[in-house]
Amino acid sequence: MKPVILHNSKFFNGDCISGAAKNIPDNSVDLIITDPPYGINGDKLHQHYNRNEEFVVEGYVEIPQKEYADFSEKWIKEAERVLRPGGSIYIVSGYTNLIDILNALRKTSLKEINHIIWKYNFGVFTRQKYVSSHYHILFYEKPGGKRTFNLESRFGLNEKSEDERSLNNTDREDVWIINREYKPGQIKNKNELPTKLLIKMIQYSSNEGDLVCDFFLGGFSTAKVALGLNRLAVGFEISKPMFDTRITYIERIKPGSLVSTLRQAELSTLENPGKTWTKEDLTRLDTEYNQLVSKGITKKEIIARLGKELGRGRWAIEKALKKNGFSEKKKGTKKTLSEYI
Ligand SMILES: C[S@@+](CC[C@H](N)C(=O)[O-])C[C@H]1O[C@@H](n2cnc3c(N)ncnc32)[C@H](O)[C@@H]1O
Repeated sequence: MKPVILHNSKFFNGDCISGAAKNIPDNSVDLIITDPPYGINGDKLHQHYNRNEEFVVEGYVEIPQKEYADFSEKWIKEAERVLRPGGSIYIVSGYTNLIDILNALRKTSLKEINHIIWKYNFGVFTRQKYVSSHYHILFYEKPGGKRTFNLESRFGLNEKSEDERSLNNTDREDVWIINREYKPGQIKNKNELPTKLLIKMIQYSSNEGDLVCDFFLGGFSTAKVALGLNRLAVGFEISKPMFDTRITYIERIKPGSLVSTLRQAELSTLENPGKTWTKEDLTRLDTEYNQLVSKGITKKEIIARLGKELGRGRWAIEKALKKNGFSEKKKGTKKTLSEYI
């Protein structure tokens, strides 16, 4: 199996299990994002989505349901081998064969980080039950190395919404509401992943220059976004018609072209984020808190000022005040904060 090499990235038209075994060295991939075939009858899939099939590329290869468990074990074993220690893997899966994917993952050393629910706007039509509108994204890591997680790549820790919620926290909740892309009149794979979804995973879990792998390229969405964000890509697609149409899109991509479209996070300039509180820190917090209270300054303002002075976020200050007895003191007990430690 010879690769097509474009933009320093390799794309193979062939089976990912034997293809990875022959062509991807151990511990060489930083991030895998992949969306395996669903193991449900292909024609049924067409009916479910009830869309104009004229623009759907022929040749999507399905895996018969009875082979799905074995198939999942084989490709996930390969994924485990090629990931570097500390590398991350995101597997997008429907519900039907989720159990096979979970069982296969449990037979490896890969460790669960999050089970993400991706909610989208493309429900299957039903009359007698609820409308299905989510997928599962299994986010795992290969133990043994430092995992990339770019905490402030999208929202700074101090950025807030109008109703004072942390944008960073909201973005990192494990339910993602991202709509599927509707591309009228464009050639597509049956189930292309939306660019926004891929950008999110790639931003949090890799850096520029990292190698991003997709075992099931389909419409090459993962590869397109990876290249657009200045990462390198490698991947497999078994279907020849799919491969041949989509590789031409990759030829036309300008690496890095998505970088300028990214939101610029306002990075927090905290000096001590996450640092353990020392006795001195807590004494200072206690003293300064009481001084500011006695001046009649509001709690919100006090917390903001103390956060700046102590180089910590609002949550850290609030937590330290609460944990160390501030609330009891406020209710009239004699103890000061530093007496609690
Ligand atoms: C769900 S689609 C991937 C969609 C892709 N993530 C996208 O956004 O376009 C799964 C793809 O895997 C391909 N496939 C099936 N078996 C394969 C195998 N053994 N090796 C490589 N690709 C395979 C199918 O032809 C199909 O295009």
